[in-house]
Amino acid sequence: MENGVVLCVLLMLGVFTKDVHPTSPIQTHQTVTAAVGEEAHFSCLLTESKDVLQVTWQKVLPYVDKNVATYNKFGQRVDPDFRNKVKFKVTELQNSSIVISSVTEQDEGCYLCLFNTYPEGAFKGRTCLKVCELHEPILHVRGSNSSEESLVSCSVTARPAPTVTLTVTQQHLYFSHYSTVTVTNANNTLTVTKTAVLSGLHGDGTQVGCAVRVPSGPQKVVFMNITEVEPKSADGIDEDSRSESSSNSKLMISYFLLTTTSVLCLRYESL
Ligand SMILES: *[C@@H]1O[C@H](CO)[C@@H](O)[C@H](O)[C@H]1NC(C)=O
Ligand SMILES: *[C@@H]1O[C@H](CO)[C@@H](O)[C@H](O)[C@H]1NC(C)=O
Ligand SMILES: *[C@@H]1O[C@H](CO)[C@@H](O)[C@H](O)[C@H]1NC(C)=O
Ligand SMILES: *[C@@H]1O[C@H](CO)[C@@H](O)[C@H](O)[C@H]1NC(C)=O
Repeated sequence: MENGVVLCVLLMLGVFTKDVHPTSPIQTHQTVTAAVGEEAHFSCLLTESKDVLQVTWQKVLPYVDKNVATYNKFGQRVDPDFRNKVKFKVTELQNSSIVISSVTEQDEGCYLCLFNTYPEGAFKGRTCLKVCELHEPILHVRGSNSSEESLVSCSVTARPAPTVTLTVTQQHLYFSHYSTVTVTNANNTLTVTKTAVLSGLHGDGTQVGCAVRVPSGPQKVVFMNITEVEPKSADGIDEDSRSESSSNSKLMISYFLLTTTSVLCLRYESL
C-alpha cells in the first residue's frame, strides 16, 4: 500500500517540477568562484515554510538539466556520474548544500537546486560556478649594487588575470621602481611577474611577502625571511665561507615560509 502512495507522489512531482515560480523564495549565491583542484560549495535556503517532499540538485546542460543529487525524508542519492565528485553537506528539507571536490574546468556552469513542494510545485534556485586557476606564487629576492637595496620579484600563473601585491613588514622599508611583465600562456593562463626595489635595509631581519589573487576568487600568500649578511671587513681577513657566496648577493635567504590561504571566495549575491 505504502509503495503505491510513494509512487503516486513521485509521479506528481514529475509534473510539478516543470511548474517553477517566478518569484523564488530561495536564497542562494548567484556566482561561486573556485580554483582548479579546490572545493566549491553550493547552498540553497527555502525562506518560506513549505511542505517539501524532495530536494534535487541539477546541472544545467545545453539540452536538458542533468540530475546531480537528490534526497527526501526516505534517503539520498548522488547520480553515478557525480559520485566521488559531489557530496551533501546539509540535507534538510528547507536548507540544502552540496560540495564539489577537486574542481576542474568541466565543472564550470550553472547548477539548480529544486525544492519540490506539495501542492505548489518546485521552487528553484540557480548558482553558477566559475572556475579559476591560481598556482603558487614564486618569490625571489636578490641583492643589488647597494647594500641598502635589494630586488624583489614575485611571479604567478593564474586565470583570469591575477593581482600581485608585494609587502614588507618593517615600516622603514619601502618598495619603488615597480615593473610588471605579463605573459599569456598557450592555455589562456597568464603569468604575471612584478618586480620592485626594496630600499632601507639596515641589516636586521626582514620579511617580504607576496599576495596574489584572482578577481572574486581565491588568494594565496607567500613570505620569505631575508637577513643581510654583514659587510666583509675591509682588511680581507674575512676568508670563510662568506666569500663563496655570490659576490652581488648581499642578502642571505634564511627561510622560505609558505603559507597558503586558499579561500573559497564567494560572491554573495542573493537572488
Ligand atoms: C542551514 O544548515 C546549516 C547546517 O546545519 C546551518 O549551519 C545553517 O545555519 C542553516 N541555515 C539556516 C538559515 O537555517
Ligand atoms: C646600481 O647600478 C645601476 C646600474 O648598474 C645604477 O644605475 C645605479 O645608480 C646603481 N645604484 C647605486 C646605489 O649605486
Ligand atoms: C597552463 O600553462 C601554465 C604555463 O605553461 C602552466 O603552469 C599551468 O599548469 C597550465 N594549466 C593547466 C590547467 O594545464
Ligand atoms: C620569519 O621571521 C618572523 C619574524 O622575524 C618569524 O616570526 C618567523 O617565524 C620567521 N619565519 C620562519 C620560517 O622562520
